[in-house]
Amino acid sequence: MIDDSGNQKEGQMGPIVITGAAKGIGLGVASAVRAAGMDAVIFDADTDGSRSASEIGAGFHRVNVTDRDELEAAFSRVAEERGPISGLVNSAGLTRTGPSAELSVADWKLVIDVDLTGTFFACQAAFPYLAETASIVNLASIASARALPERVAYTAAKFGVVGVTRVLAVEWAERGIRVNAVAPAWTETLLVTELVAAGKIDREDLSSRIPMKRLARVDDVAGAVMFFLGADSPYITGQTLYVDGGYTWAG
Ligand SMILES: NC(=O)c1ccc[n+]([C@@H]2O[C@H](COP(=O)([O-])OP(=O)(O)OC[C@H]3O[C@@H](n4cnc5c(N)ncnc54)[C@H](O)[C@@H]3O)[C@@H](O)[C@H]2O)c1
Repeated sequence: MIDDSGNQKEGQMGPIVITGAAKGIGLGVASAVRAAGMDAVIFDADTDGSRSASEIGAGFHRVNVTDRDELEAAFSRVAEERGPISGLVNSAGLTRTGPSAELSVADWKLVIDVDLTGTFFACQAAFPYLAETASIVNLASIASARALPERVAYTAAKFGVVGVTRVLAVEWAERGIRVNAVAPAWTETLLVTELVAAGKIDREDLSSRIPMKRLARVDDVAGAVMFFLGADSPYITGQTLYVDGGYTWAG
């Protein structure tokens, strides 16, 4: 929580809810939140999130972000038990790859539902329970700015996440709520490991195309999220911060 002079009030932070934090970037963010001495609550559709949460001393609710009612019930309980919510990080996401001409209706709907609709529903369901000066951070992607072949639904969803971020930032500024996005390049998580294993991406080829010559680490992304959650960004809203080793604007 940040006071009128833009300073964080010690001991007055409410919980930070992180969706999709059973693993990957979300779990990295939840761990960073806990390491900074703040309260963290994981929302994930996967019950493994319960184990991840207890390992880092966070709360857990089994929530499918495409289900508006589940989100509403979980945010309401968090606020009741832990106080007004100081931060929301929307990291729940998935992807489907393949030639656009052959993408199934089910895969298109799944990716749009989870990555775009899920992000909006979580913001909407959290709104009544947000503390004054709460910060929302949505996980976008380099696919929010660049065309990634064979990831048309993912790209459409991540462009949409930036749009949702901008609209909510403008609408909710009068309540003191900031809404920003963090857009990573390929990050060393299971999602990427699986794409490498399936031959969908070539790690060496990819690294060679990134100006900084390596994939992102979870900590690189968590650091950017923490910047938006913390006291150092009180006048920044509606922005998308690329955490990409220079990839997005290279060539
Ligand atoms: N890893 C990358 O290279 C990369 C790059 C750019 C952006 N991103 C974005 O960052 C976010 C996190 O990615 P990650 O690599 O950590 O993925 P991940 O697969 O490691 O973790 C995603 C988490 O989301 C959860 N989830 C999926 N569907 C859900 C649903 N309907 N409801 C609730 N939880 C659900 C999963 O159970 C999982 O715990 C995603 O939005 C992704 O698009 C990732």
